[in-house]
Amino acid sequence: MQTIIINIKQLLQVRETSITKVSGAEMAHLPMLENAFLVLENDIISDFGLMENCPKLENATIVDATGKIVLPSFCDSHTHIVYAGNRSGEFVDRINGLSYEEIANRGGGILNSAKKLNETTEEEIYNQSKKRLEEVISQGTGAVEIKSGYGLTVEGELKMLRVIKKLKENYPIAIKSTFLGAHAFPTEYKENHQAYINLIINEMLPKIAAENLADYIDAFLETGYFSVSETIQIMEAGKKYGLTPKIHVNQFTAIDGIKACVENGALSVDHLEIVTEEDIEALRDSACMPVALPSCSYFISIPYTPARQMLNAGLPLALASDFNPGTTPSGNMHFVVATACIKMKMTPEEAINAATINGAYAIDLSDSHGSITKGKKANLIITKPLHSFYEIPYCFATNLIDSVWLDGEKVTF
Ligand code: NIG
Ligand code: FE
Repeated sequence: MQTIIINIKQLLQVRETSITKVSGAEMAHLPMLENAFLVLENDIISDFGLMENCPKLENATIVDATGKIVLPSFCDSHTHIVYAGNRSGEFVDRINGLSYEEIANRGGGILNSAKKLNETTEEEIYNQSKKRLEEVISQGTGAVEIKSGYGLTVEGELKMLRVIKKLKENYPIAIKSTFLGAHAFPTEYKENHQAYINLIINEMLPKIAAENLADYIDAFLETGYFSVSETIQIMEAGKKYGLTPKIHVNQFTAIDGIKACVENGALSVDHLEIVTEEDIEALRDSACMPVALPSCSYFISIPYTPARQMLNAGLPLALASDFNPGTTPSGNMHFVVATACIKMKMTPEEAINAATINGAYAIDLSDSHGSITKGKKANLIITKPLHSFYEIPYCFATNLIDSVWLDGEKVTF
């Protein structure tokens, strides 16, 4: 089956040869074609070029994109889409003056979501989560990572990971799965951290590995959550089962965690609202992708990741949503890109690179996703008519999407 999209005003993120990521000053460059065509062969991008060279294809379905912009789907490398219920009550508590930390200390926060999740059936969690997955697909996400971490019991964590597996089986979007048993210490382990870490290592991990339920291992490395040495134990144990670390770190405090993550081969370090010179040094010349989550900063009013400082130091940066019930009840990557431009002073070129090719890198999908390259997956966004892609972040709250395509087919839900 062939589809040819013609008269594209701007075809963004065109890479003749596959690259893995872009860093530092390179991020300011977003390669594109003006007045272009794009050919999809089944689920794959098979050709593209300027309209003047557009081939005449017999029997191909023709899609006219006059005035519209086409870009590769967003790659959202950090979400917690699978959860039960929501935390709108805590949202109002924060409006009334409580901080995220104060709410967590009163037994709210992650433990609140964990209680709800353990009381909810797998089927019900699946039904709630699939709505969120469908929503982010319709908002232009074409590859997504989903974490566990609201179970915090053997059964609860397995239940979450099985829901992720089922979503993977039932939807055409690429999904990577991350085990986040080390998200918070359940109340009964508050005074005995090592016992909970032993539960993760000796009970959860072997079962998860036996059912092949995760690609990555995560921990919340933060003051009041998992210390550097506790996180190192988790990373080392995960690696024994083939799970690469991707770690929540530096959301509220910098405690030298990034260095430990890089030394343990983390594929990404995520959040980074607070970053020191030492953290930047640790990341320099490493294979570890820093990931910023600006919607989280927006929603709980904490600092934004210092993108300019990091890019000036030559580092790459990816953008992801962090979709979760506590700090970011949104997976809208258009809003993420816009917020990165407005609040983090990233240019539209940098933000789109960060949300596509660098996001793909952070979930090991840069061979198949994140750019318009022959042989890559035909996962696309076609916008409504626009004058320039600058209007993507500029129109920060307008739905600019005309259609989204996964595996070469227009998504219809
Ligand atoms: O990425 N920081 C840790 N985890 C989530 C929030 C978890 C929650 O509040 O439910 C995050 O922001
Ligand atoms: Fe998160």
